[in-house]
Amino acid sequence: MEEKDFFDLSDRVALITGASSRGIGNQSAKVLARYGAKVFLTARREDKLQETVAEIEAAGGTAAYKTCNVADPNECKAAVEACVAEFGRLDIMVLSAGISGLSISGGTDTAFDIDNWKNVQSINLDGVFYMVKYGWEECAKNGAGSIIPIASLAAWKAAGSVAYTATKGAIRSMTPCIAKLLAPHGVRFNTFYPGFIDTDMTHAATEYEPFVKSKLPNIPMGRFGDVDDCAYGVLYLASDASRFMTGQHLVVDGGELC
Ligand code: NAI
Repeated sequence: MEEKDFFDLSDRVALITGASSRGIGNQSAKVLARYGAKVFLTARREDKLQETVAEIEAAGGTAAYKTCNVADPNECKAAVEACVAEFGRLDIMVLSAGISGLSISGGTDTAFDIDNWKNVQSINLDGVFYMVKYGWEECAKNGAGSIIPIASLAAWKAAGSVAYTATKGAIRSMTPCIAKLLAPHGVRFNTFYPGFIDTDMTHAATEYEPFVKSKLPNIPMGRFGDVDDCAYGVLYLASDASRFMTGQHLVVDGGELC
């Protein structure tokens, strides 16, 4: 008897937000495509999306894109519709669009900046809410739905600004609630929490010696993460390998939370 490959996504379609930079969303899209999913990339920068579509196609995968600002509910709805128009279905959503907002090094002035609070909220939290609102019913149609917001260690401890922490903590709180709502519809909802990962968002810090010296001793595995450390965790949550898991939290941080 042929053994089922639980990581095989060849009949699935995945929509990824925040897929334009060389970050977690972008690499997750490439890995999901490598495992057979048709991937629909969204973010704001069209040239970057085109580049990634071309890379995925050159590697033998199937990809398409639409620009989408996740802070705008109409654009989120349009992205889901465009994905279904392109590929005929939607099963997986990886919600990686996010910003860190003003740096915490600005102290209390930046920490309590109202514009920053609203901006971070509108992208990191509202963006996840809108995508789930407009995408879950499509994910339910084929019985193998999986929605994976990308939160942060900031949902568990003081890391990042007040605004950033609030949005990631809210996603953590929503996780069991949304999971219970969607489980009877055949959609799983598990949140992914990266530790410190070297991406466009964080790369400058990895080259700033005082930061590296203070940060690395707090990571028991002794290094920053890379995008593959995250993308294969996302693959696990997207695929049937995690088919009996919902409402859960996957922390990939080299042991930092310990
Ligand atoms: P990144 O900057 O490479 O990726 C973020 C993506 O979101 C970019 O493609 C950016 O263009 C996009 N984006 C920003 N605002 C958007 C908007 N309004 N609409 C649509 N797309 C928008 O950064 P990275 O590191 O890959 O971050 C991905 C997610 O992982 C974020 O949610 C971030 O908060 C989270 N994260 C990252 C960590 C890290 O150390 N890199 C640690 C913990 C969480």
